[in-house]
Amino acid sequence: MNEGKSLKNGSHELKNQFQFSDSSLESINKILTFYPADRKQSALLPLLALAQKDNSGWLSESAIECVAKKLDMATIRVYEVATFYTMFNLSPIGKNCIEVCGTIPCCLCGSERILDVCKKELSIDINGTTKDGQFTLKEVECLGACVNAPVVKINKDYFEDIAPDHMREIINQLREDKAISPGSQLKRQGSAPLDYKKEIS
Ligand code: FES
Repeated sequence: MNEGKSLKNGSHELKNQFQFSDSSLESINKILTFYPADRKQSALLPLLALAQKDNSGWLSESAIECVAKKLDMATIRVYEVATFYTMFNLSPIGKNCIEVCGTIPCCLCGSERILDVCKKELSIDINGTTKDGQFTLKEVECLGACVNAPVVKINKDYFEDIAPDHMREIINQLREDKAISPGSQLKRQGSAPLDYKKEIS
């Protein structure tokens, strides 16, 4: 759960009122057709995700109010959901949001060492953001890709089979604004064994 976060932090609130982008408004119109008109509140999660995307990765008070208005809901109901799910950020985040899975399968495969590399390289702790606004570090629960543990999510992409050296390299590439390669860092095909061709023959 998102604990200890508050929307009542004036310094975090955008000066301008939040508005959905045109492409999000188009998506919203489509999403709303999935539900009966008197059940449109069911579209809350996808609308919050779109609002977060349109608001540089976090949900401001204004964005939450806008979602509530779209779905004819009380703002507090939307806030209750936004504060429950850890994937919603209630304060500004860095340009690169690094989420290290800390659940048991990843932990057994070395995610704590990945977390240590991030802390050391970025000089921040969990839930911290670097002073230059480039990186935010989070520890999260299972990302659903345990078969390729340990797993790190950076913005929208998954980095799997990741070792401390990979993590260091990825951070350096992000610092230099270079392209990074998501997926298995061991170049496995999906979750197939590394030498699966040999095993088949
Ligand atoms: S435990 Fe890390 S992805 Fe499932």
